[in-house]
Amino acid sequence: MVTAKTKINIIIGDPVEHSISPQLHNLAYQHHKLDKDFIYLACRVKKTQLKQAIAGAKALGINGITCTIPHKVNVIKYLDKIDKTAKQIGAVNTILNKNGKLIGYNTDWYGIEAPLKKRITLKDKTAAVLGAGGAARAVCYALAKNKIKITVFNRTLEKAKQLASDFKAEYKSINEKHLLKSYDIVINATPVGMYPNIKDSLLTPKDIAKDQIIFDIVYTPYETQLLKNAKKAEAKIIYGFEMLLYQAILQFKIYTNQTPDEDFLRTQLYKLLKIK
Ligand code: ATR
Repeated sequence: MVTAKTKINIIIGDPVEHSISPQLHNLAYQHHKLDKDFIYLACRVKKTQLKQAIAGAKALGINGITCTIPHKVNVIKYLDKIDKTAKQIGAVNTILNKNGKLIGYNTDWYGIEAPLKKRITLKDKTAAVLGAGGAARAVCYALAKNKIKITVFNRTLEKAKQLASDFKAEYKSINEKHLLKSYDIVINATPVGMYPNIKDSLLTPKDIAKDQIIFDIVYTPYETQLLKNAKKAEAKIIYGFEMLLYQAILQFKIYTNQTPDEDFLRTQLYKLLKIK
C-alpha cells in the first residue's frame, strides 16, 4: 500500500508506453515487501521537454529516474554529478536523487559483465565488438574494465576508430568478418536482427567458431538469427535477455539499496516478454 512516505521512481522516454520496467520493478517491490516504500511509474517526456522534466522531478523529490531513448546522452547536462563509469560510457540510464542532488549512473555495462563472468574467466580473453554506437560504448567499458583485449568492428570505420581510441582497442571494418573466428568472445552491439527484421544477422554459421562465445544484445526476438547461427556452429550463446536482466538488477540496487532476488526477476521478465 502506497503512503505519503512512498518514494517515487520513474522511467522517462519517448516512446515509453512499451516499457516493461514499471511492471518489473513494482513486482519486485511487492516480492521484497518494499511496495510501501517504493513505486515505479512511466512518464512520456519529449526530447524538447527534458530540461523541464528533470527540474520538475528534482523539485518533486523523485527518488530515481530511469532514462531511455532518446534521453540517455542529453540528460547528462542537467544532472548535479555523473559517476565515473557513466562518464566514461558517455550515457546515463539511471539517476538517483541523493539529498536533493541528482547523480547519474549507467547500469548497461553490468548487463554485459555479469553474464560473461558467469560463463568464463575474463582476464586475458579477446573480444570482438560489432558496432560503434552508444550500446557498443557500454560493451567496451565492461570489457576494458575486465582487461579483455578489444577489437571494434564497424561499418563506418571512422566511428570504430573513435570508439577504439577511447578504450585502447583495435578497430577494423565489419567487412573483415572472416577474422572473427579467432576471438574468444563476439558481441553484437548493433540493432541488426531486431524485430521486425528478424531474419537479418551480421554473421552466418561459417563466420562463427565452435565453443566461441556469441553474445547478442538484441533481445527481441529472444533468439535472434545470429544466435540461431551460433548454435548451428556449436558456439556458446548468451541471450540479449541476460543484459536486460542484469542491468535491471543493478538499477534496483541503486534505487532501493537492496539486492533483488535474481531468480524472481528472471521469471517475471520471462513472463513480461512472453518468452516460452
Ligand atoms: P545504439 O545507441 O543503440 O548503439 P547507434 O548509436 O545508432 O545505436 O549505433 C548503431 C550501431 O549499429 C552503429 O555502429 C551502426 O553502424 P554505423 O556506425 O556504420 O552506422 C551499426 N549498424 C546499424 N545497422 C547496421 C547494419 N545494417 N549493418 C552493420 N552495422 C549496422
